[in-house]
Amino acid sequence: SFEQTLRPQTFAQYIGQSELKRSLRVYIEAAKQREESLDHVLLFGPPGLGKTTLATVIANEMGVHLKTTSGPAIEKSGDLAALLNELEPGDILFIDEIHRLPKAVEEMLYSAMEDFYIDIIVGQGPTAHPVHFALPPFTLIGATTRAGLLDAPFRNRFGIVEHMNYYQTTELEQIVQRSAQIFQTKIQPEGAHEIALRSRGTPRIANRLLKRVRDFAQVLGKEEIDVASVDQALTALGVDSEGLDRTDRKILATMIDFYNGGPVGLNTLAANIGEETETVAEMCEPYLLQSGYLKRTARGRMVTQAAYQHLGRPYPQNETKP
Ligand code: ADE
Repeated sequence: SFEQTLRPQTFAQYIGQSELKRSLRVYIEAAKQREESLDHVLLFGPPGLGKTTLATVIANEMGVHLKTTSGPAIEKSGDLAALLNELEPGDILFIDEIHRLPKAVEEMLYSAMEDFYIDIIVGQGPTAHPVHFALPPFTLIGATTRAGLLDAPFRNRFGIVEHMNYYQTTELEQIVQRSAQIFQTKIQPEGAHEIALRSRGTPRIANRLLKRVRDFAQVLGKEEIDVASVDQALTALGVDSEGLDRTDRKILATMIDFYNGGPVGLNTLAANIGEETETVAEMCEPYLLQSGYLKRTARGRMVTQAAYQHLGRPYPQNETKP
């Protein structure tokens, strides 16, 4: 399907994250030369930057199978044991949202990661006893939004810990052009540039916006996607010139209008705008911080002058801001 082919399969197809790719290529090549499994990998970074895609690419480059799951999907130690039992030597287990693993499952992973075995408790009460299961050498790839969400004992068991960054505009342009080609849609360079500018540094957003822009252009009878159709579609979607969406603007406006610009706590803010705290913390806040609309202070989050300007609110010059 289109969705399948949108995801790059090799490093050659994978656009951006060049430093990360450079390192991973070395680790992969070295592991292959030694005929060993790749060391465990922890990827952290905001959603939509291609952590799952990167796991697919690593598996392809290693020439091994990939098994994909997520923290919340593994409820019991037995679920994990079943997954590990299916691995062949060198295979990769990818766990998305790895910070949401139950503690008992996380602890079972310690021996699996370090020494490739698990102890399963068999029986109940006085007859309960551990049974030792040897595992093939395998690679765990964990993905999480923030490194701080994992305890040190767990984090330290990953030999390769890498951070994923927001993409550059030129990289997003290339991703949009590549996706347009896969969709067999023509897009002018200026159109791709405009989508890239308004995608919050995030390929998943760029691809989603491209699909909606394509709908608009098609219905408008355009042969090619131009800047005008991009602007029309994104404006209709509530995506502004800086790529902020309705939720982003609601966050900034609430902080300005109800909290005098802050500081305000994350839970309070999320409750005020009717979003989950996690959504605000993981989907919205990182980009607002990165792009300079929000700042963290010792007393909480505050909006910056740029946020007042962007929303067309007068900046309270005379008031003493904390
Ligand atoms: N699609 C989504 N992320 C991508 C990336 N990093 N490179 C190429 N295509 C992508």
